[in-house]
Amino acid sequence: MPSRVHPGAFYALPQSPQIFKQLLMCSGYDRYFQIAKCFRDEDLRADRQPEFTQVDLEMSFVDVDDVIDATERMVAKVCREAIGLKVELPIRRMTWDEAMNRFGSDKPDTRFGMELVDLSGIVKNCGFGVFTSALEAGGSVRGINVRGQAEMPRKKIDALVEFAKGYGAKGLAYLCVMPDGTYKSSFAKFMTEEELKALVEAMGGEAGDLLLFAADRLKIVWSVLGALRCELARQLELIDNNRFDFLWVTEFPQFEWSDEEERFVAMHHPFTMPMEEDLDRLESDPGSVRAKAYDIVLNGVELGGGSVRIFQSDVQERMFRALGFTDEKAHEQFGFLLDAFKYGVPPHAGLAIGLDRFVMLLVRAESIREVIAFPKVKDASCLMSEAPGAVDEKQLEELCLSITGKPEQPDSCG
Ligand code: AMO
Ligand code: AMP
Repeated sequence: MPSRVHPGAFYALPQSPQIFKQLLMCSGYDRYFQIAKCFRDEDLRADRQPEFTQVDLEMSFVDVDDVIDATERMVAKVCREAIGLKVELPIRRMTWDEAMNRFGSDKPDTRFGMELVDLSGIVKNCGFGVFTSALEAGGSVRGINVRGQAEMPRKKIDALVEFAKGYGAKGLAYLCVMPDGTYKSSFAKFMTEEELKALVEAMGGEAGDLLLFAADRLKIVWSVLGALRCELARQLELIDNNRFDFLWVTEFPQFEWSDEEERFVAMHHPFTMPMEEDLDRLESDPGSVRAKAYDIVLNGVELGGGSVRIFQSDVQERMFRALGFTDEKAHEQFGFLLDAFKYGVPPHAGLAIGLDRFVMLLVRAESIREVIAFPKVKDASCLMSEAPGAVDEKQLEELCLSITGKPEQPDSCG
């Protein structure tokens, strides 16, 4: 650990490279680039490992466009040199709002359509209680059109309903526009001919199409239909695997509401700068504040992400308050950063690319495990070294650690 860096940097945050690189900007470096080993206690997925590598960068006197420009030129060069792929620059951009409303995801796979359609206005007075009660509760009704699948066997549709339930849906309503123009549906009996016609029309439904609908809180509707369109595209082989579809998603919300913690939490991290035009609403309407945050997405996978940082101590203090920190707690944990800001810090911004994920996508591997040496399995253990293992008293003593409880036993080794 370099002795000139405040040790707080290394325990203040689980993702220490972030605060480390910001402190370097504070101390006068104007460009910083690191290959960072990261360790995170997260659930493992096909594109997630507890130990992974980031290509992490930070720059002074830059804004969103500068980071996007530097990153996409780097990504294009890597693609060209590693696999001979020409990436058209600039990579297109989409706001978070647009991505969620069209694809139900902040990392949409844009290699196929099946976009979400908002039907809330159309069904608000219809006879189907599932739709109207979701709307009355402040939710939303949206659908996707699975072209040409009206004759999908009932068993398969039932499996889709179960799939949707896995993402929090209470059910999944369907309507098949049969080749003879009649409807086969789980809810047609609750609606008039006119209501059904309006619904099919809004969905661009034609003879032979299968229409699927979710009614719930908007967050659930997005998550259900977003996952469903990817699952259907996979099942129906709609994805051209030779395509590399890059996309920037910008203007993320600054906060998301955590039901568990009953407070707003930072969507990216607490050092992210709000958009100037939203800064006024930090206290009065935090849910509406957008951040100067951006992600680069490739084929429906988040390849990297970053943000412009707060560099004024008063804004940073307001941010901590909005996140539920008392002033004392903010100073106790991040006093070194708040103090550093008082000396005049250059505006700065950065981003990190997931190196392992990038390699996984470039070689079209199904899982990040295929491109990592000694990947961890589901319970985060290493099959090769059998870590984590027991440590002896002497090792604990050296590290000033003591065991106070029995660790939870992993329940699977898969
Ligand atoms: P973030 O948390 O979005 O941002 O991470 C950046 C990128 O790192 C990769 N990544 C992972 N790869 C494999 N396994 C994981 N568990 C994992 N977690 C993240 C992803 C992701 O896009 N400090 C900020 C960046 C910044 O603001 O500059 C950060 O870490 O590809
Ligand atoms: P029910 O009246 O519960 O039998 O539901 C009729 C149809 O609506 C079934 O196809 C259910 O799967 C579907 N359904 C139930 N809840 C929802 C929901 N929240 N969103 C969409 N469809 C639903």
